[in-house]
Amino acid sequence: MKDDTRFVLPRYPYDLLDEVRQLADAHEGGVVDLSVGTPCDPPPACVLEAMCKSGTEHSYPSSVGNKAYREAAAEWLYRRLGVALSPEHIGACIGAKEFVATTPQWLRLHDPGKDTILYPALSYPTYAMGALLAGCRAVPVPLDSSFNMELEAIEASDARRALAIWVNTPSNPTGAIADLKSVIEWGRQWGVTVLSDECYVEFTWEGSRQSALQFGSDGVISLHSLSKRSNMAGMRAGFYAGDPDLVSYLSEVRKHAGFMVPGPVQVAATAALLDNEHVDVQRQRYLERLQLCRQLFVDLGMDVVLPAGGFYIWLGVEEAISRWHEFLDKFDWDQPKTSSFAFCYLLASAGGALVSPGEFYGALGEGYVRIAMVQPLERLQVIAERLKSQLI
Ligand SMILES: Cc1ncc(COP(=O)(O)O)c(C=O)c1O
Repeated sequence: MKDDTRFVLPRYPYDLLDEVRQLADAHEGGVVDLSVGTPCDPPPACVLEAMCKSGTEHSYPSSVGNKAYREAAAEWLYRRLGVALSPEHIGACIGAKEFVATTPQWLRLHDPGKDTILYPALSYPTYAMGALLAGCRAVPVPLDSSFNMELEAIEASDARRALAIWVNTPSNPTGAIADLKSVIEWGRQWGVTVLSDECYVEFTWEGSRQSALQFGSDGVISLHSLSKRSNMAGMRAGFYAGDPDLVSYLSEVRKHAGFMVPGPVQVAATAALLDNEHVDVQRQRYLERLQLCRQLFVDLGMDVVLPAGGFYIWLGVEEAISRWHEFLDKFDWDQPKTSSFAFCYLLASAGGALVSPGEFYGALGEGYVRIAMVQPLERLQVIAERLKSQLI
């Protein structure tokens, strides 16, 4: 008998791209993968050296993070974001995703009278998934035309039930910089914890780098990752920082559950946080790729807005779909033919490029694709040449 109460996982979004990937890979020279935001550049040499010489392999690592790691994180928060915070109010996480996916369950245990997680209607899919894994309601907050959350649209009944509200700045996928002050004021007014995912903050292109902690730590946690900043996605290192009571609770519960960043990785992440030269190099790489990619689509006659932060281009595709509909009509569609998916097929077929359909990040993403700058300039040039020969 079918049990309707059983939790059924949705398919993992990127697994839905298998067919489009095959299409792109059929090009001579293969697929140019701009779908998942996984860095293609190496971590700095000082990081690899520190990891190899850590001498920490034999013993269990500290769950909250060793002293040097937390001190380096505190030093970085001050140097890059102007936030003065004691290392005691910082905890290590095994990359930001793990923290996003697990924190709702710990918050729910802490405050069992509440059962709701709020998150931006266009956002990193794990915000909603973390809520579902905790048995919570995942409630998207509508966005205004600048992709900021419309806080006044949150129902009072949802606000009263909310354990936390996620904000992500610069945003994946839109590249928008959030109005953190308003989110924090809203959170404090309703007694809702603000979880601020700032893992792209080093890649801020417009204005100064923003952190929720610039508005005080009361009721606020800011989340950081070494994955993008230092190309350490394969090592799994990040940290959360802010409200002393919350950090203390989370670090205790995470210790009981056995969440630990491996010792050699803690040492490597410490070296990475203390160095900013490699980040300057990485910023330049992303800027050059963003500019080249923008030009590529402008040359095809499309409007492209560069992101205010992050390394994704959030590209509106409705007009392009009607322009190239004849090219698209030849496909046998296995996937639903939304305009976003259609554009993914177009780019794969004509350019051998793999990008993500906007609906991976919420229903509002229909009509957009997200293009990650995670390939070197030469590979982006390859796409440009293929597309020009097929579409112009
Ligand atoms: C907004 C956002 N938060 C968190 C993560 C997870 O990063 P990490 O590699 O630190 O788990 C990502 C990864 O793409 C992301 O885009």
